[in-house]
Amino acid sequence: MPKVTIPSLLERGRTGEAIVMVTAYDFPGARAAERAGVDMVLVGDSGAQVVLGYPSTAEVTVDEMLTLAKAVRRGTESAFLVCDVPFGSTEQSDAQAVATAVRFVKEAGADAVKLEGGGAAQLSRIGAIVAAGIPVVGHVGLTPQTATALGGLRAQGRTEASAARVVEEAIGVQRAGAFCVVAEAVPTEVTAVLREALEIPVIGIGAGPAEGQVLVLHDLLGVTEGRTAKFVKRYGSIGDDTVAAISAYADDVRSGGFPGPEHQYTASPEAVAAARAAARDA
Ligand code: KIV
Repeated sequence: MPKVTIPSLLERGRTGEAIVMVTAYDFPGARAAERAGVDMVLVGDSGAQVVLGYPSTAEVTVDEMLTLAKAVRRGTESAFLVCDVPFGSTEQSDAQAVATAVRFVKEAGADAVKLEGGGAAQLSRIGAIVAAGIPVVGHVGLTPQTATALGGLRAQGRTEASAARVVEEAIGVQRAGAFCVVAEAVPTEVTAVLREALEIPVIGIGAGPAEGQVLVLHDLLGVTEGRTAKFVKRYGSIGDDTVAAISAYADDVRSGGFPGPEHQYTASPEAVAAARAAARDA
């Protein structure tokens, strides 16, 4: 497959052929996404929760994200690789934001970085990173890094003020230079307004029809335990399958059914005699 590029993504946005994005956090996840032919792979800071076990995305560090991103890079060939910059790594200044983005490009081979939010400070950070030559994906609506300030992990754009804010932020993100924008947990009608107002593609997650869609890999595979967000569609039950496989292995070990003869090596009688002699003489 030819390498996915920003012009090819923008063209897809124009022709109406949906852009498919999925998250990945390790080499096998990236290989699977690549083999499935997705357009964009996102090393999301959702990895903080789904692979590192943190209670929220706020805890993950740049170094931890870079470890995940490097593994994903090794498994990605044609898909366009986007890395989330984690909470705390851009907030202080434009210079800090550029330095963080540069690390994702230089150390992990990211094609672009994703920044949450569309307030004045975030727009300045996006502008600075784009001016440094690094493509940026915006993220509006529910922005989990700052969910506490939004009143929790809840849909945005459902009141007049919130709907206006989501649209203003998305327009700001486009003006600041982002080449596409993720809209998370936004009513379908507000997404429709966004899509009309914007020239850049909108990648939705819980935002209804859009130029593209993104899902968290572990949600769509059914790895995640317990309740998932309303917008998640499960395409597998890997979590249950994994538990069943490990339980079957444990039963086999306990009953003596594993290892069987086909899982064992053999030695010549001479080698066994030498081993016995060595044990005797030791
Ligand atoms: O971190 C993440 O996985 C994301 C997606 C939900 C868009 O930001």
